[in-house]
Amino acid sequence: MKLFLDTANIDEIRQANEWGLLDGVTTNPSLVAKEMKKGASFKEIVSKILNETPGPVSIEVIASDYDSILKQALKISSLGGNAVVKVPFNTVGLKATKALDEKRIPVNSTLIFSGIQALFAAKAGAKYVSPFVGRLDDIAEDGMALIEQIKTIYTNYNMKTNILVASIRNPLHVLRSMLIGADVVTLPFDVLSKLPSHPKSDEGLSRFLEDWEKAFGSMEFPL
Ligand code: E4P
Repeated sequence: MKLFLDTANIDEIRQANEWGLLDGVTTNPSLVAKEMKKGASFKEIVSKILNETPGPVSIEVIASDYDSILKQALKISSLGGNAVVKVPFNTVGLKATKALDEKRIPVNSTLIFSGIQALFAAKAGAKYVSPFVGRLDDIAEDGMALIEQIKTIYTNYNMKTNILVASIRNPLHVLRSMLIGADVVTLPFDVLSKLPSHPKSDEGLSRFLEDWEKAFGSMEFPL
């Protein structure tokens, strides 16, 4: 199970990396636009992310026609060996995915909302598919049921495309992804930060330290 951070914020990326919890990063136009509003250029933001991430970084095209998707994809791919081109799923996106796969450029097929879309993206050669679980939950559909479906479909047909669970909103989405056997989860920083804590871990540590202090009246280390 790989842990990606779903952000374009370099401080969040550095923090996750320091914790040893950063296998990759996903961005999208909304996340990059948020960082660009602070003053840096698109190229500065994505180059920094590519340099500091010890794994794949998905960067999304903002074009809708085939020629422009391809042009933008080639530019994105030239920015770093770990760049993955994020292409929105539709028939134009499928055509672009196939062409990019033929050039050995890895594609993350994004905005996946059905098992059939996931199968088509895999057939076109996508390296990753990004099913959006939170946005399905938002409209009273079961986002995690989609991950189960895609896992079954890919297992049935021995498809090698990685299931990258996206639009994650809470720790249960992460746990269920792990139990289903998804390849990657991409997490907003606030969800990642919640995952390590457990009240019993905090309580246990406080009790150990209190017992020591009670016994010896100080926290001096005896070695
Ligand atoms: C996927 O890669 C997207 O960036 C992201 O997970 C979308 O999540 P949201 O629905 O919380 O915006």
